[in-house]
Amino acid sequence: MGFFELNHITNVFGISGLLQVISLFGLLLLLSKAAQYYLHRQWLLKCLEQFPSTPSHWLFGNLIKDQDLQQTLLWVEKFPTTCSKWFWGNNPSVMIYDPDYMKLILGRSDPKPIKSYGFFVPWIGYGLLLLEGKKWFQHRRMLTPAFHYDILKPYVGIMADSVHVMLDKWEQLAGQDSPLEICQHVSLMTMETIMKCAFSYQGSVQLNDCGNFRSYVEAVEELTHRVHSRARTAFHQSNIIYNLSSSGRAFHRACRVAHEHTDRMISMRKAELENEGELEKVKKKRRLDFLDILLLAKMQDGKSLSDEDLRAEVDTFMFEGHDTTASGLSWIFYALATHPEHQQRCREEVQSILGDGTAVTWDHLDQMPYTTMCIKEALRLYPPVPAIARELSTPVTFPDGRSLPKGFMVSLSFYGLHHNPRLWPNPEVFDPSRFAPNAARHSHAFLPFSGGARNCIGKQFAMNELKVAVALTLLRFELLSDPTRVPVLVQRSVLKSKNGIYLRLKKLK
Ligand code: HEM
Repeated sequence: MGFFELNHITNVFGISGLLQVISLFGLLLLLSKAAQYYLHRQWLLKCLEQFPSTPSHWLFGNLIKDQDLQQTLLWVEKFPTTCSKWFWGNNPSVMIYDPDYMKLILGRSDPKPIKSYGFFVPWIGYGLLLLEGKKWFQHRRMLTPAFHYDILKPYVGIMADSVHVMLDKWEQLAGQDSPLEICQHVSLMTMETIMKCAFSYQGSVQLNDCGNFRSYVEAVEELTHRVHSRARTAFHQSNIIYNLSSSGRAFHRACRVAHEHTDRMISMRKAELENEGELEKVKKKRRLDFLDILLLAKMQDGKSLSDEDLRAEVDTFMFEGHDTTASGLSWIFYALATHPEHQQRCREEVQSILGDGTAVTWDHLDQMPYTTMCIKEALRLYPPVPAIARELSTPVTFPDGRSLPKGFMVSLSFYGLHHNPRLWPNPEVFDPSRFAPNAARHSHAFLPFSGGARNCIGKQFAMNELKVAVALTLLRFELLSDPTRVPVLVQRSVLKSKNGIYLRLKKLK
């Protein structure tokens, strides 16, 4: 409103009259917003009529801080196939944990909801995890060769070296006879592996010079925690409010640490590639690792991969490539420590193929069926990615006839699926025989790496790393649990323990 118009209104109404008009407008606006909110809520409740739920607060929903997994177990027990849950305000989602429902949703191409995945953007940008549509397809096609069998094969030796560095450190620490918190060690080890395999990093992440890497690993811990809690906090939805809050500031501080790390990796590799000579020479000389593919795609056609796209892919793979595997491996160690009889059976199997374990190769990885069964059973009990989400781009009708309109958020709970007693009798019992070669199960009953077109691109890489790490560890240590410190599971972007995972390590003769 211009100065003269305002002056004119003031002359007509006087100052107090003007204030009354403004208040009236404000009130009308508020009432119309409240009416919109109410009507929208009524519509949501109508859509959710067929989906059971526990009572929820109109503003704070029905999530209890750090109790998502425990709540999921109760819901899975109480409501077969699915239930609705409210985050905050008018923000519900339908949580599914039934294999037919999973199959239906994973077979569609609904996008990832901006309300939850969008909070990752300032950190990992639009890399493969967050991209959608044509650009996602192009990037997926470009990066798939980096996970080809021929590329993965020699990684087994690199993985074994990283594991041995961790085990050497454990050997020194094991002498202290107090339980060891393993998650930090495992994270640095998986970080070293991804750095060496995907980014051709030559140095050591786990030894003396690990300061930068440790701060990166800590930043990732902070970021996954912040993203998770932001999605659950009503007052943190607006960027302006969030960025001004202490949580928002901590998030951006951690983002800067993570970006400094990835920028360093990109410039180091760029410099190395320049030294190695022109493009053709590099291509002939070396196998193309993940970062080479990205850098060369950029060099061949400057427009095809912007600096922003490159950084996003590096940030995405740096995070996805180490944090998920670290979570998986830490929980596998915990599962084996709490089930010594299975641990011993795996050890005997590994001893029979590897002897002293100095040379583990690709061919060995197919020869440890019992160890693989135990790894899968641990991934069932402790899925490293407990849940993902999709926003329906078209209406959906589930196999039992219930339906949801376009725009609804569906949360796919792998934790719920893997603990569903209708699929897995006595779901809390660690029973590797569930994965015996002849055991029958629904194609979508076990989904640690998700499924469909947007499944995990690093699945084979991760399974290899888990097998190498478990095999080599069992040859050198007996893993014992610490009954005084039982881990408390919490859902972040990956599955974590609130109080760490403490194990006693007994060096084997
Ligand atoms: C035990 C280890 C791992 C588990 C359990 C795991 C699990 C998953 C899951 C559940 C998804 C689907 C995410 C969604 O739809 O929102 C996913 C996607 C993805 N994972 Fe993994 N992952 C693991 C290891 C890795 C590794 C080692 C890498 C890279 C080297 C990786 C890279 C990715 C990428 C880039 C995506 C996005 C794929 C796309 O949308 O096209 N993951 N992962």
